[in-house]
Amino acid sequence: MTMLNSDRCCYWNLKCPFALGSYRAAGSQAALQPRIVLGIETSCDDTGAAVMDEAGRILGESLHSQKEVHLKTGGIIPPVAQRLHKENIHRVIQEALDMSRISPSELSAIATTIKPGLALSLGVGLEYTLKLLKQYNKPFIPIHHMEAHALTVRMIHPVQFPFLVLLVSGGHCLIAVANGITDFLLLGQSLDEAPGDILDKVARRLTLIEHPECTTMSGGQAIEHLAKQGDRMKFNLKSPMGQHFDCNFSFAGLRNQVTQIITKKEKEEDIEKGQILSCANDIAAAVQHTVASHIAKRTHRAILFCKMNGLLPQNNGALVVSGGVASNQYIRRTLQIVTDATGMALLCPPPKLCTDNGVMIAWNGIEKLREGIGILHNPEGICYEPKAAFGADISGKVKEAAIKLPHLKLKIRE
Ligand code: KG4
Ligand code: ZN
Repeated sequence: MTMLNSDRCCYWNLKCPFALGSYRAAGSQAALQPRIVLGIETSCDDTGAAVMDEAGRILGESLHSQKEVHLKTGGIIPPVAQRLHKENIHRVIQEALDMSRISPSELSAIATTIKPGLALSLGVGLEYTLKLLKQYNKPFIPIHHMEAHALTVRMIHPVQFPFLVLLVSGGHCLIAVANGITDFLLLGQSLDEAPGDILDKVARRLTLIEHPECTTMSGGQAIEHLAKQGDRMKFNLKSPMGQHFDCNFSFAGLRNQVTQIITKKEKEEDIEKGQILSCANDIAAAVQHTVASHIAKRTHRAILFCKMNGLLPQNNGALVVSGGVASNQYIRRTLQIVTDATGMALLCPPPKLCTDNGVMIAWNGIEKLREGIGILHNPEGICYEPKAAFGADISGKVKEAAIKLPHLKLKIRE
């Protein structure tokens, strides 16, 4: 069990205009109290809960990661994820509440991820939430997991709409313009796998779990770690979708290329199952670089499209990067080259907020509560949705624009 140590930490800069005036209109003593939201996340393999007040202060939080179990089985098995959520959800929520010293009756609302995600996992969070809502008679704020990832940054930077947001995780890969709390324009998304997913698969194919330095790391973390000691130039991987002048992503072809290289090298080195290739570091460096440059090129085109169409401020626009893969420093630095070249600011939440957690859900609940949107006083009939669209899809328009990228050197020095 990992418990994030927040100790009533305040991510919110109190000088920020959002932090002030975020309390309910005065009128009674009680009205001066900030409103408080409990956030619950169970969409994939993390059971997370957090209690947050209206000013963005984390009053309590707890997170149970299933990563170690799934690492051993080589991927998430949904019924196993469901069982682990069931075993931990009560304790995780209780820990967040205990740390906050807030009783459920003092909550203003409960916010829970209901989409998208694994059906069996989402079901556990929603079922528990419905019980709490009934018991304490509280309003419900249903949360879209990707919207929550997209807006987490606003907890720590007062970034104004519109801004560009890139979400890269184990289950998702998309780039969108955030125009408002529930208002997004989708510019592109992965046509097949997500970048975290292919990094996880490559790591598994390289049996990095057996690598003494990587035993407790996720695939993406292991690739980043080994890539630091590798030479990406040892393998020439073809960058995906070079002839598609849109902002969609594709990673399946890259995974096939890497799998073929690994199979060839295993034969050359006469490797037995479970042994690590001598060139694993170089393969990690090459795959990380190719993933980074593919993401950077699609992002570069998205920025140019937005500027051409007045979708972002001409000056001082912001690119927000979130999701588990956004913790990767090499990918961040590659994106920094793109934002420097286009006059954008690059904003990334700290790694612990990039991955799944209850805090991002509580924060999304707070933002909705403050705007008075998406609050249900009767949750009857609410269902979880394993698949859910994200924003209005304008990827066709991006494709039509067929923007050719100016040359940009995406070279990172380690
Ligand atoms: O956002 P997240 O916690 O869960 C969802 O997928 O929604 O992201 C987890 C993914 C995994 O695929 C993991 O391998 C990847 O993020 N990841 C990384 C790094 N840390 C986690 N990928 C690349 N570099 C990292 N440092
Ligand atoms: Zn996520």
